Amino acid sequence: MKIIRSISEANQFRNSINVVGLVPTMGAIHEGHLSLVRKAKQDCDIVIVTIFTNPIQFSNRDDFSSYPKTIDQDLDFLRQEGVDLVFCPSEADIYPDGFTTSVEVEKFSDLFEGESRPGHFKGVTTIVTKLLNLFLPNKVYFGQKDFQQTFLIQKLNADLNINSEIIVLPTIRESDGLPVSSRNVLLSKDERISASVLYRVLKNIKNLDTFDSKKIYQEIENEIIKENLVELDYVKIVNPDTFSELLEVGENAIILIAINIGSIRLIDNVFIKRISSGIEIDYRFERYC
Ligand code: PAF
Repeated sequence: MKIIRSISEANQFRNSINVVGLVPTMGAIHEGHLSLVRKAKQDCDIVIVTIFTNPIQFSNRDDFSSYPKTIDQDLDFLRQEGVDLVFCPSEADIYPDGFTTSVEVEKFSDLFEGESRPGHFKGVTTIVTKLLNLFLPNKVYFGQKDFQQTFLIQKLNADLNINSEIIVLPTIRESDGLPVSSRNVLLSKDERISASVLYRVLKNIKNLDTFDSKKIYQEIENEIIKENLVELDYVKIVNPDTFSELLEVGENAIILIAINIGSIRLIDNVFIKRISSGIEIDYRFERYC
């Protein structure tokens, strides 16, 4: 009989059985999700995809109802990728009458996205914890586009000793750089054209003559204001490891941005760093469809 006495041995044991990979999604499967599935297929023996449009992470029921639902197409895409199991539960199964427990990563859930979407991250971390408990995956895959979400999930994974490996893969972009997102299909033709400002302002950061975060925010705001259909929600430069806001771009930074176009919210981010000639963008994390 094997006896183990530490969490690291427990993890080693679990990893030695079958490597289970989990890709949590809300459906409307796109190239971003498929890039996660493909990596999971390379890394794992069994790949599970979950499709559940999680009502408790939406601030209002209209936003929830308008979220694209394309289940037949989603299943076709996932079948083609050789996914082993798709979990698409009902709302009543996940949140039965009497459900009262939630999981919240304090402090970081109220910043940035959390400030604009109260309760959003509590909904995300609650459902992700439930999915991790249900499938006990060795590896779980997320896209870098939702950087704050990935930071919070890494935090809950460590704080609650869940100890899955959280794998964050590069944002997949359309040809003008807009991150692929389930919400992009909701944009009108004009809105879609205006949306390209999101990545443009991030890319242009390398042409700015300053490392000062406030000045960078101002330059970005000046650019965005020229796009009539677009409203800047926030732009923030933070240390990606601690999530604390930086007064100046240093060696290790990420710039996060959110805009609203009508009722549609779009977010993006790029890793940046200070070099002698200015600010450099880390293109290792850039992928196009
Ligand atoms: O990123 C998403 O699609 C969702 O927030 C997630 C992680 C599937 C939780 O509902």
